[in-house]
Amino acid sequence: MKKVIYKQFGDESVLELVDQAIPSIQKDQLLIRVKAVSVNPLDWKVYGGEMKLMSGSGFPKSVGIDFSGIVEQTGSATTRFTPGNAVIGLLDVFKGGALADYVVVKESNVALKPANISFEQAAALPVTGLSALQIIDQLAAVGPNQDVLINGATGGIGVFAVQIAKKRGASVTAVVSTKGVDEAAKWGADTVSDYTKQSINVLSQRFDAVIDLSTKLSFTEAKSLMKPSAVYVSTLPSPLTLAYSFINNLFSGRKSKVLILKSTVEGLNALTHLAEDGLQIVLDKSYSINNVREAYQEARRGKGIGKSVIVLD
Ligand SMILES: NC(=O)c1ccc[n+]([C@@H]2O[C@H](COP(=O)([O-])OP(=O)(O)OC[C@H]3O[C@@H](n4cnc5c(N)ncnc54)[C@H](OP(=O)(O)O)[C@@H]3O)[C@@H](O)[C@H]2O)c1
Repeated sequence: MKKVIYKQFGDESVLELVDQAIPSIQKDQLLIRVKAVSVNPLDWKVYGGEMKLMSGSGFPKSVGIDFSGIVEQTGSATTRFTPGNAVIGLLDVFKGGALADYVVVKESNVALKPANISFEQAAALPVTGLSALQIIDQLAAVGPNQDVLINGATGGIGVFAVQIAKKRGASVTAVVSTKGVDEAAKWGADTVSDYTKQSINVLSQRFDAVIDLSTKLSFTEAKSLMKPSAVYVSTLPSPLTLAYSFINNLFSGRKSKVLILKSTVEGLNALTHLAEDGLQIVLDKSYSINNVREAYQEARRGKGIGKSVIVLD
């Protein structure tokens, strides 16, 4: 089978397409024939070596976290799936391995694919959808009539975060570049601010939650946008930010929280229900696995709106 691996940290030039044997499964695992894999900023942070502490430095390593596909084989101790089921799932963020014809995964990291979406759309759901759910429901605990600012609202997580925050009854301000102004309004944002025309710092409104998906807005900068007991959410976990948040949260009304993505059966099921209920999934570009370097180069340079996916034959 085809698989994308790398033998040293670096840019997209380290990614290689190789032939490998189809892996065998253990009794608590599923073998899945992959149909599509999403392109995540986390991928290039890991193969770029930015996350060595978590990924380790042994090679070769694999790429690709979330996928859609069809169950090919089930381990004897699995109970929830049968061969032929169309599914979505995700692998360990730091180990990857979804960019391959087949993946082996525990069934707790898999859910049935909603029938109303394509395999390409389905591949775009797990990492960014679970991140959005975790941010809106757990970290920011967004509820009715809250004012929520989402900075970077047209990216993978942002598209879902805007829609989920609206579902929870919040009033949403989406910060986007010009290309996303109309789109963010279509997903339900009450106010849309174009960061290329107006600095976020001049907004006069104060928010219950400030969610930074751009990695450009620090907690220190965000404070002036926050109500006295508001929450700021960052997507950049590091020992320093985690320690800083812990200490800040002991003494300050304005809380700082950091996303550390967790995959749960409940989260995946909540996500598939949202998709069945009409959650809009926005695809940017679609690539063949033979063009994997191009897919990551273009995504890293900055892209359109939503998520790019890599499709397997
Ligand atoms: N900690 C975790 O467990 C975890 C899990 C998943 C993801 N992440 C991280 O979360 C971040 C967001 O993920 P994603 O998939 O949504 O990334 P993405 O698709 O690249 O989206 C990032 C967004 O930021 C916007 N942006 C860039 N510069 C901006 C600025 N100055 N002001 C406002 N917005 C700006 C971009 O919009 P334009 O294109 O219009 O500039 C884009 O929409 C990434 O850094 C990712 O690595 C962390």
